[in-house]
Amino acid sequence: MRGELVRIRIPLVVLAVAVTLGGCVSTKRDDVAACASMAAGGLRPVAGERTGRFLGKVQENTARCRGGDKAVAHRNLPWVDWANYWATGDAGTLAKSIGDDLGHLRANGRGIDGTLLDLEYQRIELIKFNLFDNSGTYPDYVRGRPGVDGSAIKIWDAMRLPPAHPDHAKVGGDGVQLCQGELIRWRTLSGICNDIRNPLMGSSGMPFARNVQLEATYPDLGKTDLARNRHGGRLSLLRPDPQVISRKLFTRAQSSPETCRAGQGLPGGAADAGCDYKKAPFFNVLAAFWIQFMTHDWFSHLQEGRNQPDLMAVGCASQRVGNAERPLSAEEAARLGCRPADRADRGLVAEAADPPTFDHAGNTYPERAYRTTSNHVTAWWDASQIYGHDEVSRRRVKRDPADRAKLSLHPVGRRAGAGERQGYLPRFEAGDPIAPEWSGQEATGFPDNWSVGMSFYHNVFAREHNLFVDAFRRQAAATPGADSGLRNPARPTEPMAYKDVGADELFEVGRLVVSAMIAKIHTTEWTPQLLYDEPLYRGMNANWHGLLAKHDLASAALEKIVVRSFGKSEDAKYANQWYSVFAAGPGIFGLGSRVYGHDPLFARLDTPNRDTWSLSNPDHVNGGINHFGSPFNFPEEFVTVYRLHPLVPDLIELREWDRDPNQIRARVPVIETVRGKATAATQERGLANWALSMGRQRLGALALQNHPQFLQNLPMPRLAAATGTIDVAALDLIRDRERGVPRFNEFRRQYGLRQLTSYDDFVDQRLGKGSPERSEQERLVGLLREVYGQHRCDAAKVITSAQVNADGSPINDCLGHPNGTMVDNVEDVDTVVGWLAESGRPHGFAISETQFQVFILNASRRLFSDRFFTSSFRPEFYTDLGVRWVNDNGPDGVVMETGERNGHRDPVSPFKRVLLRTMPELAPELEHVVNAFDPWARDQGEYYSLGWRPRPGAEADPSFR
Ligand code: HEM
Repeated sequence: MRGELVRIRIPLVVLAVAVTLGGCVSTKRDDVAACASMAAGGLRPVAGERTGRFLGKVQENTARCRGGDKAVAHRNLPWVDWANYWATGDAGTLAKSIGDDLGHLRANGRGIDGTLLDLEYQRIELIKFNLFDNSGTYPDYVRGRPGVDGSAIKIWDAMRLPPAHPDHAKVGGDGVQLCQGELIRWRTLSGICNDIRNPLMGSSGMPFARNVQLEATYPDLGKTDLARNRHGGRLSLLRPDPQVISRKLFTRAQSSPETCRAGQGLPGGAADAGCDYKKAPFFNVLAAFWIQFMTHDWFSHLQEGRNQPDLMAVGCASQRVGNAERPLSAEEAARLGCRPADRADRGLVAEAADPPTFDHAGNTYPERAYRTTSNHVTAWWDASQIYGHDEVSRRRVKRDPADRAKLSLHPVGRRAGAGERQGYLPRFEAGDPIAPEWSGQEATGFPDNWSVGMSFYHNVFAREHNLFVDAFRRQAAATPGADSGLRNPARPTEPMAYKDVGADELFEVGRLVVSAMIAKIHTTEWTPQLLYDEPLYRGMNANWHGLLAKHDLASAALEKIVVRSFGKSEDAKYANQWYSVFAAGPGIFGLGSRVYGHDPLFARLDTPNRDTWSLSNPDHVNGGINHFGSPFNFPEEFVTVYRLHPLVPDLIELREWDRDPNQIRARVPVIETVRGKATAATQERGLANWALSMGRQRLGALALQNHPQFLQNLPMPRLAAATGTIDVAALDLIRDRERGVPRFNEFRRQYGLRQLTSYDDFVDQRLGKGSPERSEQERLVGLLREVYGQHRCDAAKVITSAQVNADGSPINDCLGHPNGTMVDNVEDVDTVVGWLAESGRPHGFAISETQFQVFILNASRRLFSDRFFTSSFRPEFYTDLGVRWVNDNGPDGVVMETGERNGHRDPVSPFKRVLLRTMPELAPELEHVVNAFDPWARDQGEYYSLGWRPRPGAEADPSFR
């Protein structure tokens, strides 16, 4: 089936009705005609070849049907079309004079549904064209096995536990490997046995994957003609100079440098300090540290906070002047603020030799990327940052000696507030296995790059863990002999009474529940606020609950089709693209966690009697996962788009919950909360005050010239270098170059997005000519041209195999400009620089569309691949209480919000519930909050407003002045 075009047809009668009704409402006659002609053409085929991808660009009639003139007007830009559809922005994008016009058939509904359809195409094609494994399975993926398409393969030798592994014999040794017994009960420490037939997958130390063609990695090495043609010998690890890029393109401008003092603020955290930064009005500082907390769970290139021991120069040596690279004089370096004497440790490399190759169908392929690196933590969403990822990190995790099911927490001082009694994490002690710079910090699994933000989240979720244990213990005391729902796989049919669940068992159940709560918060609360518009609200909720959440029968039927038919198919079309499309109905979370026998439609109504899911059946335990033919791990490119350092402000505006929250009492430099100082800051000021402060403050926008100054000047005591300081913003570029991430334009082509043809494409064409925003963007484009330069192009040089021009000809060095003319070196732009420069984003997007494209694929896979979020989301693993806790956002059932937000009335969000449980003293403040990542005192206004106005009662808050 590979290579075949698949045409999806929707019954014409349905579309005809849609189009007719759509025309009744509001949009112009032209739009209606466009809908009719779109419907007549059916839906576009999923691309058969990489070069025929969707690119987020639709036909003119489709654009008109979904967004009218505005959508048509922007079709020639590189950026995705859906951002210009009806109802995808604020109230100004709603089709006029229609009130609550969000029906599927009407203009606004067409805009939103059209967006969801575009996103599903993107996901299908990303699954089809962007999975490249580095751990040895890629030849199988390309060649397939007899009767099985490569991308439908489900078990790999490379995912077996090797003979030296301590659990080798337990999973079957040299025979067929299958995890059983204790190994399948929980999230194992090293991450083995999540997929019980591929024990090694996602465990600590496995190679990072890739999302780009392996030949497109490491462009600096110039291994292929395409790479050499694309970059013309202009690139190396330190060229263009990363520190110069940092100082010219990343530094935050300051209106009063004397009170910012490069991010150090004023002594004692004085409130009259000030560091300017570009702010995102709809996202708060809690959200910034949340995502750092997540990345510490998902991936780490460093091992125990260390790279290679040897040091390297990190730039501040040259700059481009008059389109030529020139050495930087000492005076110029001083003027820029960079440091030639800085040194950093080289990144760890797993395999440095060129890969072996294999042949298939007349082509030669590398078996892996030119170099590989390892993910030193588990790739699973398993809260390993809290609980550890190997024996060493687990020794850092302190359990409560009085109840080993709990984490150790101790009250500190006598501050007011009910949450205070729940306590704080203890500090590391002598003898704990830690890097020296971590001493004085809270004891936890992953202690690197610690600040008050990490300290905050680790304390919050340690409290949440203990609250779950308390609730379980209360239930056990009330009904000791009742069935807890938990099962021991050694005796799968034997009920386990509450009183028989041991402390170690309960600890691991607590970990499962906390991990699932975190995943739910991230998917249904953090991400919809990161991507603050209606289509993404629906899309992210669909990933978790399903588009058909309120339609049980249809959802049950689709789930059966997805898991039992498509999931088992050996044909890639069914195993992958149809699986992805139909999974949107029931949602990914919980897929395969119920097995319905022969009458799925009615079984849902009568679940206890009909559900035949069995712990002794490996096909049930493992049955809801899908890796789409490529073992799960994060790709290097995912790490790149998570280099979100501009989110962090230099100063945190400190408030107190019990002394007029509208007042800013101090401006605490984040640098004064780094490493051990974090722990002191958290405990001295109190967790609830930090929650309030970070909840009200806006985070930094992901934009050029918006990196925290303190991160450009971060003391790194472990480096034996003259300055002992590094510029983390420059290091972001160096690490991506070390790891062979393609530069921005090829990155976009590889991910199925349209390329840019000059730096000018970064300017948002929707802005009026001469407007202040547009002038600022044009200024930044001027800087890009200064830093990255231009060259005389050669149309004979083909630069990519990922895409072709509209007329089918190869894309060449001139990018459509006349041969021999001077063109921008837009191919050289570092990927981080590129996505920071993207100004014309979809409404409410804190990230750029390029970053988002990476998320569409990997955020879904993180759920699709994990048994504990799909077929093993069951009481047998989580207990009955655990399943309810995750589904209802806590104990005591679902609690509904009283009001509506953007037209939706939802349950009280999972993170708000966590905050209310762990810091009950915040209840009066949280009364006004719906999404805990939206600045807490912001008036949310009407439909997806990004306005910055105080809600009633917060008028005195100076941040609104
Ligand atoms: C006080 C705040 C922070 C500090 C002190 C900090 C520090 C650092 C440092 C020193 C590195 C470089 C490690 C190396 O390659 O040698 C790094 C990498 C990184 N940081 Fe941050 N960071 C902070 C906040 C954040 C935030 C908010 C994010 C958001 C997601 C983030 C995401 C990352 C990522 C993705 C990497 C690459 C990790 C890897 O290569 O595996 N950081 N950070």
